[in-house]
Amino acid sequence: MELNIACIAGDGIGPEIVSQARKVLDRVCAIYGHTIDYHDVLMGGCSIDVYGVPLTQETIDICKAQDAVLMGSIGGNPAVSPWYQLAPQKRPEAGLLALRKALGLFANLRPAYLFEQLQDACPLSVRNGTRSFDLVIVRELTGGLYFGERKTEIIDGVRTAVDTLRYNEKEIERVARKAFEIARVRRKKVTSVDKANVLDTSRLWRQVVHALSKEYPDVTVEDMLVDNCAMQLVNNPAQFDVILTENMFGDILSDEASMITGSIGMLPSASLNETSFGLYEPSHGSAPDIAGKNIANPIATILSAAMMLRYSFGLPAEAGAIENAVKRTLEDGIRSADLMPRDAEKKKGLRAVSCSSMGDEIAARLVSPHA
Ligand code: IPM
Ligand code: MG
Repeated sequence: MELNIACIAGDGIGPEIVSQARKVLDRVCAIYGHTIDYHDVLMGGCSIDVYGVPLTQETIDICKAQDAVLMGSIGGNPAVSPWYQLAPQKRPEAGLLALRKALGLFANLRPAYLFEQLQDACPLSVRNGTRSFDLVIVRELTGGLYFGERKTEIIDGVRTAVDTLRYNEKEIERVARKAFEIARVRRKKVTSVDKANVLDTSRLWRQVVHALSKEYPDVTVEDMLVDNCAMQLVNNPAQFDVILTENMFGDILSDEASMITGSIGMLPSASLNETSFGLYEPSHGSAPDIAGKNIANPIATILSAAMMLRYSFGLPAEAGAIENAVKRTLEDGIRSADLMPRDAEKKKGLRAVSCSSMGDEIAARLVSPHA
């Protein structure tokens, strides 16, 4: 088949990690007999440099005209980058939020599991015999605090800022439905995370989730307060299957979940609308401090490309081939810098490689199903 993909390399380490994902995608498509048509577009800081704005209508239109969007990362270091001299709505991050909104990407899937080979990179101590876990965070992506009205004004001589947290029941129901559907093909458990002891939006969230759960009698649903969830993630991540939560809580919990997989460089993500269209990006940021050094970990982006094949193109065998190649690369002791243990003793048998070599190693381990 022909895969039409819009490609946003973005800023910082974005171009480096995206070219590794493309290397792996090109290889898997060559093996399975697909062709890819990439449409490169600008978004984020690089778009500001060329067009003065982080997102143009042309970028939105080109993304909409393809079947999926593959993205690296956007943004820079606010302490030094001129992009952050601009008004907040003109900065790189505003482009990403506007793109998610324009494409209707309300459900953000962030799977976190611990590769057997990365047990020693996991910062959690081994308790109860095992550290293994396999969970997916389903984060609402186009509502809540990120999109509510905000302003900063002077009231009685005091600078005062307001951000608005708003959800309606339709927005809650559609993302909850995704979570239940995903749980159905996993271990059939949804943990709905909120702050219902304080927030009205959370109380509405609970009501909607519980009403919807009647349609999914095969799936267990439990509620958890977000502060407790943050604690449970480091205490016993194995208890989770699908974590369903609102935009801001999901942003925070997914960084936490990524780190217990060994590195923030491991966590992929898929942002979906009601159709098979999606935007696929690593959960991490643009890491401007290591940009251009060819040392970033491209695995989150490569695994995001695998999610793209599975969710937008209905190619689970090809997606599985990429995931297996990543696993085999790690099994062979090949590590990007972020995955190397600090302890010299534990480094034995491991080989530290650059970002581009990691891409080469993973691509080289892709095998034909007929081989
Ligand atoms: C993420 C990022 C973004 C978010 C930023 C860059 C706006 O942290 O995708 O998790 O908060 O959604
Ligand atoms: Mg984040």
